[in-house]
Amino acid sequence: MTPFICPLCQTDFQKNNNTQVCANNHHFDIAKEGYLNLLPVNAKNSKNPGDNKEMMTARRAFLNSGGYFQLAKKVSELVSSYLASKEQAEILDLGCGEGYYTALLAEQLPTQFVVNGLDISKVAIRYAAKRYKNINFCVASAYDVPLPDNSIDALIRIYAPSLDNELARLIKASGYLITVTPAPRHLFQLRENIYQQVNEHAQKNLAPAGFDKIEQINLNYLLTIDDAASVENLVKMTPLYWKYSEQKMQSLLAQRQWNIECDFNIEIYQRQEN
Ligand SMILES: C[S@@+](CC[C@H](N)C(=O)[O-])C[C@H]1O[C@@H](n2cnc3c(N)ncnc32)[C@H](O)[C@@H]1O
Ligand SMILES: [Zn+2]
Repeated sequence: MTPFICPLCQTDFQKNNNTQVCANNHHFDIAKEGYLNLLPVNAKNSKNPGDNKEMMTARRAFLNSGGYFQLAKKVSELVSSYLASKEQAEILDLGCGEGYYTALLAEQLPTQFVVNGLDISKVAIRYAAKRYKNINFCVASAYDVPLPDNSIDALIRIYAPSLDNELARLIKASGYLITVTPAPRHLFQLRENIYQQVNEHAQKNLAPAGFDKIEQINLNYLLTIDDAASVENLVKMTPLYWKYSEQKMQSLLAQRQWNIECDFNIEIYQRQEN
């Protein structure tokens, strides 16, 4: 059974062959990879919103090389420990991309927990659904999530946009919101090539309305890379790519080895009781 609801009228779906049909007879095809495309055509600002194929492919190759494995492991451990007392739980990875973190989470959590991933990028979701079969994926906007009110025990948001009202609507009372954002030294060695002065000021993230911050972790490690393709992928998967001139890129890739700091800010918030 799909946890997703109709984006047009918010009623539950019933499966009918390869289609999900809601109580008001809105039909959504189940793609052959198993995901649902629940993004209404009029909600798209462009033909293919979200990360494009090139960014997605670079991110996929970099993540598969294990460069951010420590982050994925830490997030999975946190979710497992916060949900340790639960027999049943519903998890959402918001802006899940091609599902790298989502898959590691699903692997770590008890099999009866339901893991869902949502992203606005169809290429990313298609890849995710093809590769990870035990996760429910859908194409939709993080600003208008096709899931019921108070349905999520833990929502993970790694470098993805969201709206506070929508987070508060989705997460159950006492449920958790886990966010990952770049910390001041993140990719410092890539940024110092393009900025005269690298901004190192820490930003203070405030708890979204209706949540209390219960833990903040700084995960910092030095990543040693010894192949140029991985460095190129790392640049390509970030907005730094737009800043790198051809010449700067060439001189970066001419090195033999790269030592790059990874610096992540992990925050855990808990939904207040109301
Ligand atoms: C920097 S990527 C992070 C992806 C994944 N969490 C990761 O770290 O590998 C940001 C993701 O947010 C998605 N995205 C951007 N705008 C979105 C929106 N309005 N709703 C849902 N996803 C969105 C992009 O398609 C992209 O996959
Ligand atoms: Zn409907």
